[in-house]
Parts: sequence; structure tokens; C-alpha cells
Amino acid sequence: MTFRARHLLGIEHLAPEEIRTVLDLAEKYVDLNRRTVKQADALAGLTQINMFFENSTRTQASFELAGKRLGADVMNMSVAHSSVKKGETLIDTAMTLNAMHPDLLVVRHPSSGAVNLLASKVNCAVLNAGDGRHEHPTQALLDALTIRRAKGRIQRLTVAICGDIAHSRVARSNLILLGKMENRVRLIAPPTLMPSGVAEFGCELYDDMREGLKDADVVMMLRLQKERMDGGFIPSEREYYHRFGLDAEKLSFAKEDAIVMHPGPMNRGVEIDGEIADDINRSVIQEQVEMGVAVRMACMDLLARNLRAERGAKAAGVMV
Ligand code: CP
Repeated sequence: MTFRARHLLGIEHLAPEEIRTVLDLAEKYVDLNRRTVKQADALAGLTQINMFFENSTRTQASFELAGKRLGADVMNMSVAHSSVKKGETLIDTAMTLNAMHPDLLVVRHPSSGAVNLLASKVNCAVLNAGDGRHEHPTQALLDALTIRRAKGRIQRLTVAICGDIAHSRVARSNLILLGKMENRVRLIAPPTLMPSGVAEFGCELYDDMREGLKDADVVMMLRLQKERMDGGFIPSEREYYHRFGLDAEKLSFAKEDAIVMHPGPMNRGVEIDGEIADDINRSVIQEQVEMGVAVRMACMDLLARNLRAERGAKAAGVMV
């Protein structure tokens, strides 16, 4: 198995063979998670701390379940009731928890780069659960696993990512991953929600849904990230839905067997029609949630192997 990373901070640091390693191991955890008894021991004896400085349903719940199913002691730090509210900084908070000897630290933070900074201060493995508009690596990995299971491959596909690209860490991690795996990536957004310089990633840019969706294999919808917007980016939600919301008519431009994805949380009637989101013949949104647990189990398992190897080498006096 090829996976050299000490931390999981972003897709930009992963090689294609490391991405494949995560997906292959995650397949085994999909099987485990469908059994009545969902217990393994890959993280037995290890301590995992989840620190979420931003709201989350899917990511926090799945990291917690992933750690528990692999036998870790899992602690969710309640940021709202912590000394962060008394003015303690992110780094002081992390150093305090680091002194309790965790092995895995899962961090979500509203500032881009905050998780990378934190990783340089602690001596355990750090997993980025989403930092500002920078990266959300486990989301891109679970999306890749969902696509590979639905399409039978994660290469040579046309993937349309639609909506608020400018504020989306999900879009950024996905376009990096999909590019590394040699897919054709199209970004569809109004000009106000398309980040400058994004064409450097090798994507095709559209501001018309019908043109951008033409013959797409995968349609990935994004929510308007209002919490990261300062000012008006769209005339109104009604107008936005009319031009960029995914409905049956716009979806008819994609391939007949195109799948519909959304990382959640969804705003029905804003970026996606509720009937499309619930259509079990097109939508894989619930599968994405299921794959999230398996992918996070795989990521933590692989990081724990590297951590144990590093500690074992240090104990034996070998330089790593
Ligand atoms: N997709 C995602 O990150 O969802 P949550 O914000 O609920 O974790």
C-alpha cells in the first residue's frame, strides 16, 4: 500500500497512487460498515480528538463513527463550551490538547491555512475536516469513491461542478483530485461566483448550465456558501435557481446515465430541485454520506500506520 503522508491536510499533497490506496482500503470499510457488527481494531489504543470550530453534521458525525468503529478513544471538543470563548487562540488550544497525547487530531476551521499551521505545532497526525475556502480533502476522497462505485472508474470522466465555486473548499479539493486522476473538469457558475485564476487548474469554465452540462457523466452541485460571502453575489435566490439550479430540464443536457451529487447541506429550491435530489435513479447523495464514514476510516487507518511506524523507528533510534 502506498500512502506516505504524515497528515491529511489537502488533496494537493497526495499522489494518484495514494488516492487509489485510500479508495481501495475504504472499499473494505464499506463492507465492514454494512455488517451488523461494525468493529475493527486499526486504531485500538489510540486517542482521536475532533475539534470543529465551524458547524458540521456529516463530517463530524462520520469522523466520530469512523474512530469508534476502528477502536479509538474518541473525544469531541465542544468549541462552543471551551476556553476558545474566553479568548484562547487556536494554537494555544491545540498545544493544550497536544499535551494530553492524542494520536489523531481532526480539525475544521473557518480560516484557510489554519489546519496546516496547527499541524506544524503538534506531534500527532492531523486531518483537515475543512479549512475556510482552501481544502476539504476527505470530502473529495469520498466523492471519488462514490463516483468510482457508480461509474466503475475514476478516470476519463466529464465532471461538471456547478454553483458557488468561489467560496467552496469542496470544489477546490475535487477539482485537484479529479485533475490528478485525469478527468475532464468543467466549472459552471455565474461570473461573480467563479474564482479568478481557476483555469490554471486545467478546468473548462462556463456560465451557462446547459452548455456546461452537455454530455457530463457526473453533475456535482454546490450550495451558496453564505457564511463566507461579504456582499451580494447573486440578484436573488429565485433568479439564481432559474439560471443555475439543477432541475430535470437542465439535467437532460447531461448523459442519460449521469449521476447527481451534492456534498450537503442542501438548499432545496436554491441550487437543486428537491425531486432530483431524491431521485434514487440519478442522485447518489445518500451514497456520498455512506462513503464518508468508510473513507474517513481508511484515512485514519493509513495515518495511524505511518504514525506507529515513525514512533517505532524513533524508539529503535532509526532516522525516518
Ligand atoms: N459536506 C460537509 O462537509 O457537510 P457538513 O458541513 O455537514 O460536515
